[in-house]
Amino acid sequence: MKVDILLGLQWGDEGKGKIVDVITPDYEVIARFQGGPNAGHTLEFEGRKYVLHTIPSGIFHSDKKNVVGNGVVIDPVIFKKEVDALVKEGVNINKSLLLSRKAHLILPTHRLLDAASEKEKGSKKIGSTLKGIGPTYMDKTGRNGLRVGDALSDKFQEKYDQLKAKHERLLGHYDFDYDLAPLEEEWMKAIDFLRTMTVIDSEHYINNDLRADKRILAEGAQGSLLDIDFGSYPFVTSSNTISAGACTGLGVALNKIGEVFGIFKAYCTRVGSGPFPTELHDDMGEELRAKGHEFGATTGRPRRCGWIDLPALKYAIMINGVTKLIMTKADVLSNFDHVQVCTHYMHQGEKIDYLPYSIQDGEITPVYEAIPGWQQDLTGMRSIDELPAELNNYITYLEEHLNVPITIVSVGPDRSQTIHRDSVMA
Ligand code: GDP
Ligand code: IMO
Ligand code: MG
Repeated sequence: MKVDILLGLQWGDEGKGKIVDVITPDYEVIARFQGGPNAGHTLEFEGRKYVLHTIPSGIFHSDKKNVVGNGVVIDPVIFKKEVDALVKEGVNINKSLLLSRKAHLILPTHRLLDAASEKEKGSKKIGSTLKGIGPTYMDKTGRNGLRVGDALSDKFQEKYDQLKAKHERLLGHYDFDYDLAPLEEEWMKAIDFLRTMTVIDSEHYINNDLRADKRILAEGAQGSLLDIDFGSYPFVTSSNTISAGACTGLGVALNKIGEVFGIFKAYCTRVGSGPFPTELHDDMGEELRAKGHEFGATTGRPRRCGWIDLPALKYAIMINGVTKLIMTKADVLSNFDHVQVCTHYMHQGEKIDYLPYSIQDGEITPVYEAIPGWQQDLTGMRSIDELPAELNNYITYLEEHLNVPITIVSVGPDRSQTIHRDSVMA
């Protein structure tokens, strides 16, 4: 068996949580491979709504295993809150939730450093979720980090004190006030809680499962345009969000990767700072935000909204090796006369169809094609035959331009609002 991957092709929030939950019945293991509590993955079913940050989105299927891989960074405080909320809902995480011994820990001082760095950047800030993601990955690559395995060793306090002292020295360089004691107290309690979790050597676990022919789905966080190498740097997150990240973030070899499901919204959003070529600054943008409830699942910040961007999607499809596409939020685009699609950019006087090195404001201008819109409410539709002809036309148009089959169309936030599609391309 191989590991399938589901990941976002835009700037995050494409609906990964919803779709992972929908396809979990096809798998035995769901594994997160990067990111941390900067993620907010929303699931809705049976009239209930949940937002997961660190825990994989297969957790509501009691017979499945959910692995938090080595590539993930864990804030024990947020993790404990997530587990507590699930337990309250009757989810039995004891049997199904497994943490990698090699996953790195987010310290309270990582969060403080994130905040201090963003404050210093002023108007040039990344717009980080302030969960300490950047500083934690910096300590990982700088070879200073603490891992889940350290929390289980008797040298933990010593290692913690050493890293904390380094962070305090760094914080001293910023104009930034903080009170560490209450944060540290809460964190240490959460570390005690973490010690009660099932901790595994996840690379062995996953490879053993592969050998035993178990089906594994790797769940991405953020999106390809937030990737540390290929995203809109420096306005990115600090991990590899692309398919290659699943190999390093789980310990899975390249030849063990199967399908790569790329998920995208029928339009586009971004939260935080950084370039967004097709962003709408007018009433249309407001309308998309209101109709799509485009507010961050982690921070509540309004998401910036704009039209779909094909050169950016093609780039993400190329980097990830996407084999199947999933389109969400088609319902939000109902009632527009026309839907605009960015097919090219004007760049240095030339019309190009690829993502250039810099997509900063002024560097590129989107070129749009207007596609006839659809007026029907899609949220009650459950089969491709019910979908309006104009939407089917939009789907075929996207497939032809992106050259990858669209196999799922999502028409609402609920698990049931999902249409599987036999693409002629598949
Ligand atoms: P993720 O980070 O990729 O898991 O996505 P988020 O959960 O942050 O954001 C996606 C939002 O859109 C959530 O509020 C979902 O409940 C919602 N959503 C997912 N799919 C659809 C859809 O097809 N239509 C609508 N209207 N909402 C959707
Ligand atoms: P999910 O998994 C959308 C954005 C932040 C900021 C930048 C860096 O829900 O799709 P960080 O906290 O990583 O230092 O922030 O990345 N960002 C996300 N945007 N969805 C996410 O996750 C995001 N995680 C981080 O807004 O611009
Ligand atoms: Mg999200």
